[in-house]
Amino acid sequence: MTQPPSHNAKAFARPIVLGIETSCDETAAAIVAAGKTVLAHRVLSQIDDHAEFGGVVPEIAARQHISHLDHLLDALMKDADLTFEELDAVAATTGPGLVGGLMVGVMTAKAIAKATGKPFVSVNHLEGHALTVRLADDVPFPYLLLLVSGGHCQILSVTGVGSYRRLGTTIDDAAGEAFDKTAKLLGLGYPGGPAVEAAAREGDAERFTLPKPMVGKPGCDFSFSGLKTAVRRLAEDCVAHEGVLTHKDRADICAAFQKTLAACLVDRLTRAIALFREEAGSGELPFVVAGGVAANSYLRGELEALASRENLKFFAPPMALCTDNGAMIAWAGLERFTLDPTINDMDISVRPRWPLDGDAKPMVGKGKKGAKA
Ligand code: KG4
Ligand code: ZN
Repeated sequence: MTQPPSHNAKAFARPIVLGIETSCDETAAAIVAAGKTVLAHRVLSQIDDHAEFGGVVPEIAARQHISHLDHLLDALMKDADLTFEELDAVAATTGPGLVGGLMVGVMTAKAIAKATGKPFVSVNHLEGHALTVRLADDVPFPYLLLLVSGGHCQILSVTGVGSYRRLGTTIDDAAGEAFDKTAKLLGLGYPGGPAVEAAAREGDAERFTLPKPMVGKPGCDFSFSGLKTAVRRLAEDCVAHEGVLTHKDRADICAAFQKTLAACLVDRLTRAIALFREEAGSGELPFVVAGGVAANSYLRGELEALASRENLKFFAPPMALCTDNGAMIAWAGLERFTLDPTINDMDISVRPRWPLDGDAKPMVGKGKKGAKA
């Protein structure tokens, strides 16, 4: 991924694609050009608006997107020194996600496309996460993907743009959701992932032992709700013994939680690697982690070690491109537009639920929801 050497973006390779992301609690947009160049990139986080509620409030999220998206786009176009007419396509997340926010982004993108006569490209948020790594590195297909975000936890075989086979998924909570719930239980605030990671850095991961749901079981599916319950019991035990949950208790619980969650992911991945190799063959194949939880340094280290044990080449997007952002949507739009320059998705509406692998069997419990990526 390269940054433009000057503000004059007009010299850059085409296509040039605007991407808009409003599926959850980030109002984000970016302009990306062929040759993996991010011309401009803006993210407005709504964390402060939702923090007092301990999670994302859909109505507040939609209102904030409406208040901020047009100003953010003005600033973005100025950063890139481009007009809307100079774009080749306009992409937006059409799903999965919160319906109100999705409608704001999609209507805005369609209006820009209509007014300028450019095509509108519909992007699946999960596909944005899945392809982002190719904006940063030359990662060839096929690759094995661990997609870990606030709403999803999946292992996929990625054989091309638009071509995904789900090998495993969560049957209850997503990995990021487990981080967020653990943080909430321990009074660490929202969003939980970065708070738990920071606390874990000071903790002793050996003091407590947590259960490892699904580990050793057949298949490649995950379960994290038991882990969350175990965290709650640990915290209650600490309070029962010491009268209060100390700073050290919190740090030690976070360290144990993070270590256990990573061990669960590694166990399921070990099985998925065998399945992936059956279709993709032997050799040093690419292994990619993506989604908000991929910003966790401890997890990245564990996955890198797994890759080296299994003779896979490990890739992770830069930290800023792990959590939701506009560049991942612009890039996925650019990949789709490059494959089919006649594309125009004006007739596509928002899809709050939209699995990447439409052939995958639906899960019982929350795993099937996919309301958020
Ligand atoms: O992909 P993402 O930005 O948003 C959606 O879920 O749509 O992922 C957000 C999730 C949240 O659950 C957040 O707590 C988690 O990613 N996360 C992390 C870290 N940074 C963000 N989890 C663990 N460690 C982190 N450093
Ligand atoms: Zn996401």
